[in-house]
Amino acid sequence: MTKKASKKIAPSLLSANFARLEEEVHAVVQAGADLIHVDVMDGHFVPNLTVGPVVIEAIRDCCTLPLDVHLMIEKPERYLEDFVKAGSHYLTVHVETCPHLHRTIQAIKELGIKAGVSLNPATPIKTLENIVEDVDLILVMSVNPGFGGQSFIPNSLKKLSGIRKMIDEINPRVELEVDGGIKVDNIKQIAATGVDIFVAGSAIFKSQNYKETIEQMKKAAQFL
Ligand code: DX5
Ligand code: ZN
Repeated sequence: MTKKASKKIAPSLLSANFARLEEEVHAVVQAGADLIHVDVMDGHFVPNLTVGPVVIEAIRDCCTLPLDVHLMIEKPERYLEDFVKAGSHYLTVHVETCPHLHRTIQAIKELGIKAGVSLNPATPIKTLENIVEDVDLILVMSVNPGFGGQSFIPNSLKKLSGIRKMIDEINPRVELEVDGGIKVDNIKQIAATGVDIFVAGSAIFKSQNYKETIEQMKKAAQFL
């Protein structure tokens, strides 16, 4: 397992108060967030609708942290340019939505930002074998995508370990990210698989003190 110096926390705005979005973004920045995770949903690939480039642009204008944009949409290639122009630093597409995954990843990289690939809980890790060399980030869904506040699927631990191994063997500069059900009390066990970036929505935004929660998460994730 490759140990990296610091684990990153990416609060997912899905659980933020959208009526006070700027305040919420500032609050997690002050609280020690490393990235801001934005969930884009289309009501087709996942049974929920969220935000598009207009909102990403507004977040970009009130925040200097990198924006980690998670595209849970069909045919993501139609919107890559719009999301890059809006200020995304990472654009992650799902394996399940991209029949021409290599082409989509190249298109993101040609737009000058980091390209990520994500897989749903039931999608096997072998779907990544031929793309690991080309991506900057792998995002493992540890819940079925669509909603915040779900429970971590335990089988994700095995999956994360397998992907960590694949990254170390094929392309060690890839960052490994996990998304769904990450809490203060399970992050240590998840971190032991070699995750670099933890997305957390409800654990942070439903807590009383964002700073305390992020600190506790980092502390638990760091001490392996
Ligand atoms: C789910 C989203 C997640 C979600 C995580 O489809 O991709 O980013 O906000 O929420 P929690 O941390 O509450 O599971
Ligand atoms: Zn997400």
